[in-house]
Amino acid sequence: MTSLLENIDKSKLPRHIAIIMDGNGRWAKEKGEDRLYGHLHGVDSVRNIVEGCAELGIGYLTLYAFSTENWDRPANEVIGLMELLVSTIRKEVETLNKNNIRLHVIGDMSMLPQSAQDELNEALSITEKNNGLQLIMALSYSGRWEILQMVKYIAAAVEQKNLSANEISQETIQQFLNTSSFPDPELMIRTSGEFRISNFLLYQLAYAELYFTPVRWPDFRKENLYEAILDYQNRERRFGKTSEQLTN
Ligand code: IPE
Ligand code: IPE
Ligand code: MG
Repeated sequence: MTSLLENIDKSKLPRHIAIIMDGNGRWAKEKGEDRLYGHLHGVDSVRNIVEGCAELGIGYLTLYAFSTENWDRPANEVIGLMELLVSTIRKEVETLNKNNIRLHVIGDMSMLPQSAQDELNEALSITEKNNGLQLIMALSYSGRWEILQMVKYIAAAVEQKNLSANEISQETIQQFLNTSSFPDPELMIRTSGEFRISNFLLYQLAYAELYFTPVRWPDFRKENLYEAILDYQNRERRFGKTSEQLTN
């Protein structure tokens, strides 16, 4: 029997995969544990999936780790998540660097505790020259927040007469998003059985293939990633055209 990995067509890999890492809390509750126990195990999945993407030669991986709305969770969970973020970055940055992985952050970093900002900034600069997998962490991120920032930047440019309203194009928009230096994701995965976007990459997901799995994030491993990629490779991406146009 051939493995899932062998069935993947290496010439048709998505350049950019984005993942909503959901289900840590339920995973823990099902084991009679505290939600934070789930987040702790979620880190093992992050490590495994980052490694899997790097091995495959995926260009960009965006991980939705904390949304703008997640600030409204109970204080002990928010504090626990921030501590986990700091300790994980500290532990993993050398491995990322060794594997030529560059870290990026999208979202409102100014909302994060100072310790997290310091740890992240250090990791960003340590990995800044790496040109392997580009690992993008969405932290205190939401699509509507990002779109609002973009509108403010463009309005300011118009106000300062650096740009006229007529000149605003889709390229202008792209240029003022947090993701300006990354291509749009071709594949978006959400774990844990929820069929929604939850304010993730609203602009960038316009033509992404969406893949939903009931697997909870702490159980998600490379094999599950391969399954998602194989599913993606069996789809016909028409971008508004007809199937006949694509095959001719
Ligand atoms: C995803 O798991 C992690 C974060 C949102 C930080 P959840 O914490 O949302 O887990 P569920 O969805 O409650 O099971
Ligand atoms: C989305 O998960 C955000 C992250 C995975 C970071 P949520 O658990 O916050 O989303 P909802 O509340 O179920 O939509
Ligand atoms: Mg959730």
